[in-house]
Amino acid sequence: MTQKIAFFDARPYDQKSFNETNHSFGFDISYFETKLGVQTAELAAGYDGVCAFVNDDLNAAVIDKLVTGGVKIIGLRCAGYNNVDFKAAFGRIHVVRVPAYSPYAVAEHAVAMMLTLNRKTHKAWMRTREGNFSINGLLGFDMHGRTAGIIGTGKIARCLIAILKGFGMQVLAYDPRPDLEYASQAGITYAALPELFAASDVISLHCPLTPETAHMIDATAIGKMKHGVMIINTGRGKLIDTPSLIEGLKNGCIGSAGLDVYEEESEYFFEDKSAEPIADDVLARLLTFPNVLVTSHQAFFTAEALHNIAETTLQNFREFFAGGYLANEICYQCNRTCPKKEKQRCF
Ligand code: NAI
Repeated sequence: MTQKIAFFDARPYDQKSFNETNHSFGFDISYFETKLGVQTAELAAGYDGVCAFVNDDLNAAVIDKLVTGGVKIIGLRCAGYNNVDFKAAFGRIHVVRVPAYSPYAVAEHAVAMMLTLNRKTHKAWMRTREGNFSINGLLGFDMHGRTAGIIGTGKIARCLIAILKGFGMQVLAYDPRPDLEYASQAGITYAALPELFAASDVISLHCPLTPETAHMIDATAIGKMKHGVMIINTGRGKLIDTPSLIEGLKNGCIGSAGLDVYEEESEYFFEDKSAEPIADDVLARLLTFPNVLVTSHQAFFTAEALHNIAETTLQNFREFFAGGYLANEICYQCNRTCPKKEKQRCF
């Protein structure tokens, strides 16, 4: 029997990469352009699995509807899973994800934002196109010798650190689970957050969004940072309290910000809203700053990452329907991929 997958928030590039990869899997995939949420969950009735992305809302009500409709598995085609109510899902529906598809893609995008903000290439591009060859106001700084503060030292952070060490930067890192062997190999130093805030010229966020990390960059944290610090967020929008960030940008405490994610992004990111006024005043204010670069959750968006996402997502579904061990299942008890061996897992 061919298993049916309801694929939400489907974009043309998703359909292309999943259709190409599905040749060797043979699932019956229906693509829905709409996001998954309370209003749309009933579309999945009668499907065996759903495939969801970062801005689909998998709250308790949605999970109830999916379970009632006979859906047995949620395949997230992303690494982060802060949009899933695991308490509601536990024991009723399986949740799998793609733990890594290209940490290089995200790390390289973080560096692209750092260099753009530092050397103001976004402004230079606009100037020279208009025949303005002045370099007034485009002064940057050498990355070499500066200090980067990296929050979270997982897969993406380690790719980023390798690049920044290549620039000759000093790296301070914070992680509640420090890996001292890695630190000594990579030539970085773990530090407490206040120390990292005080010493860093560039701060980049690479931890998951959890109750502990929500709004970790708030007015208090910003108050501890170096004047003129650059903040890069390719993690999740809610890691930053955006009104505090705006205040910091207004008073110069924050020199620049590169944001690939925004806490209220689901209404805007991935959509063409160019013909409408922006109703979100916070986002609209962010877009007025010349020293803020907002990208639309595109850090993951490389050909390699899209291919790996499709391959791992469909492999996750195949493992489930074959009744086998789910390598990428997220465990409610552990709040991450269950680190225990196959038979001792929490479920
Ligand atoms: P990972 O799981 O390899 O690493 C996360 C690290 O954060 C771990 O070392 C963990 O110990 C650490 N951590 C946990 N709690 C922390 C805390 N309170 N403070 C500091 N560190 C903490 O994850 P990976 O693959 O490096 O991804 C990191 C995040 O990047 C994801 O959770 C996701 O939200 C985001 N992401 C964004 C993408 C984009 O396109 N913008 C694409 C992929 C991931």
